[in-house]
Amino acid sequence: MIELDDFSYAYPTGSRPALRSLRLAVPAGQLCGVVGPSGAGKSTFAHALAGFIPHALGGETAGRVVVGGRTVADTPLPDLVRDVGLVLQNPFNQISGVKFTVREELAFGLENLGVPQEEMVRRVDAVLAELRIEGLADRSPYQLSGGQQQLVALGSVLVMRPSVLVLDEPTSQLDPVGSGQVFDAVRALHRAGVTIVLVEHKLERLAEIADRVLVLRHGEVALDGPPATVLADPRLADWGVAGTRYTAAARLARERGLWPEDRDLPVTLDAAVAGFRAVTGGVESR
Ligand SMILES: Nc1ncnc2c1ncn2[C@@H]1O[C@H](COP(=O)(O)OP(=O)(O)OP(=O)(O)O)[C@@H](O)[C@H]1O
Ligand SMILES: [Mg+2]
Repeated sequence: MIELDDFSYAYPTGSRPALRSLRLAVPAGQLCGVVGPSGAGKSTFAHALAGFIPHALGGETAGRVVVGGRTVADTPLPDLVRDVGLVLQNPFNQISGVKFTVREELAFGLENLGVPQEEMVRRVDAVLAELRIEGLADRSPYQLSGGQQQLVALGSVLVMRPSVLVLDEPTSQLDPVGSGQVFDAVRALHRAGVTIVLVEHKLERLAEIADRVLVLRHGEVALDGPPATVLADPRLADWGVAGTRYTAAARLARERGLWPEDRDLPVTLDAAVAGFRAVTGGVESR
């Protein structure tokens, strides 16, 4: 579904390439998490998948990005946005600036595609309900909190029903409740078969839902594999990526001899609980 074929990219003003010789494939329906320190190239990667690179941002590319069988560089952006949705890291940049209410904002992309009015209303209502933001429908997109804007930005992409969804830190401005709404929506889309690339710092959440995690570092793939392996890798800390709290707790326990050397460190709550149960012989503390 998504293929990067020795893909490199340098921004017009960049002195060094932001992405270097990426070779990877994300099969249809996979939920691929992306993590890495600040400046690693996560947002650049997201923009390259959605065609903003090279179409909107210019710069120099080498190699290819292929999404849904189409080479991104050879496909006009208006054609790409039908299939590939990108939720930007800064939701403010996603607001059209030409609509007065959230409802109109959500309908904007569909209007541009010429979707009939009735269908438009149906889709917008469905997304408002799915993200539990019905209460924002008549508000101005500019009079929302950062978190509310983030939900609206996600909504404006979801109404397009993309087969590939790229989310760049979609919960960075959200509290735990708002983050939960986003993760619920992502989980539902994953179940519905949408191919998802999710850049996310909340590794505890990512570990629960991702099929696979990529670690980017200096524009290269440093690690690629199942979340349980990648997120427990001890090198993450050296690279400036804090692991999950479950891994941290088990690592401390191991230092004190309370977690066996030969038992993998957990990345989810369930794995942590199972591990601590096993080492305490199932004895619950009072
Ligand atoms: N518009 C731009 N022009 C020039 N260089 C840029 C531009 N955007 C990003 N860069 C550079 O490209 C590299 C990768 O940046 P990118 O924004 O992709 O990192 P990131 O992993 O998303 O970081 P963060 O976690 O802070 O969002 C950095 O060195 C950054 O300074
Ligand atoms: Mg970024």
